[in-house]
Amino acid sequence: MGFKEVFGTLPEASAQAPGRVNLLGEHTDYQEGYVLPTPLPYLTQVEAAKAEGRVEAYSEELKELRARPLGSPAQGDFLDYLLGVVWALREAGYGVPGARFYVRSRVPIGAGLSSSAALEVAALRALRTLYRLPLSDKDIALLGQKAEVEYVGVGCGIMDQMAASLGEVGKALFLDTRTLDYENLPLPPGARVAVLDLGLGRRLAEAGYNQRRREAEEAARRLGVRSLRDIGELRLVEGLPSPLDKRARHIVGENLRVLRGVEALRRGDVKAFGELMVESHRSLSQDYEVSLPELDLLVEEALRAGAHGAKLTGAGFGGAVVALVPQDRMEPFQNHLLARLPHLRIL
Ligand code: GLA
Repeated sequence: MGFKEVFGTLPEASAQAPGRVNLLGEHTDYQEGYVLPTPLPYLTQVEAAKAEGRVEAYSEELKELRARPLGSPAQGDFLDYLLGVVWALREAGYGVPGARFYVRSRVPIGAGLSSSAALEVAALRALRTLYRLPLSDKDIALLGQKAEVEYVGVGCGIMDQMAASLGEVGKALFLDTRTLDYENLPLPPGARVAVLDLGLGRRLAEAGYNQRRREAEEAARRLGVRSLRDIGELRLVEGLPSPLDKRARHIVGENLRVLRGVEALRRGDVKAFGELMVESHRSLSQDYEVSLPELDLLVEEALRAGAHGAKLTGAGFGGAVVALVPQDRMEPFQNHLLARLPHLRIL
């Protein structure tokens, strides 16, 4: 199948965008903190053509054709993301009248690798070409996030869309989510990013995510700051009642870890970087309480198998683990893990 078979016409624009993993800076982006994601070499591709008054899309993975008029509410299917980006553009004053999309996604869905941000960014890129919209890559990330939060109705920060829009494969995107200043830093030479997926899905991820956001907001309120980004020292959180003290300790510590991680990348110190990933995971597990026993175990096994560092990636409550592995140890690393966890998928 292709665009022509589904819609009977040729596409007028095409674009793509990648999924991502996050190396450091987890659960900081909704408190104006620092993040350090890297795009994956797995892409979502869309082909698009103009349409009037409606959004239509075919998903090659789902083998589904969906169509709804502009102004329809979200319905919980993949078309929501596409109606969402068209809605966000119209809200921003771009008179986009509709579109048809053919979607091909190589980003694993439901593993916490931001397949939704990849789809939003790819669709917005195609619409930028199709309707000659004067949008920067940052605008695209912000519009994608707006679609996801306000139209689809899933609370998220700006990290995933920025990684999909501004990231470069083989580099880490050091992003300040307060100012949106960013820099793409080369990953340590000789190290490979491996994604470890046990197929856990993301149990209760949305409810848990929203609860953590509220706890972080409450901690910031009690500390009298606009966001936890403004707390530079760990000792300042100790007076908060539990569990707000733990939640704030994670976020404040995680921001410091990103800054130290950036220094380690600049020095090419892969060992120090790996240690920060392990600290991040421990903090996500013990203080932020978004890990699962399976993920804790997987991190331990990855370290035993020779990784420099490993941590859960994304919101947690399931999803995948990201590991940084010496390139020349990749084969024994895989063999070690697959011998113990035969169902593990290594990407
Ligand atoms: C999800 C959200 C991101 C970020 C991460 C946690 O992936 O979409 O904005 O908050 O969780 O770091």
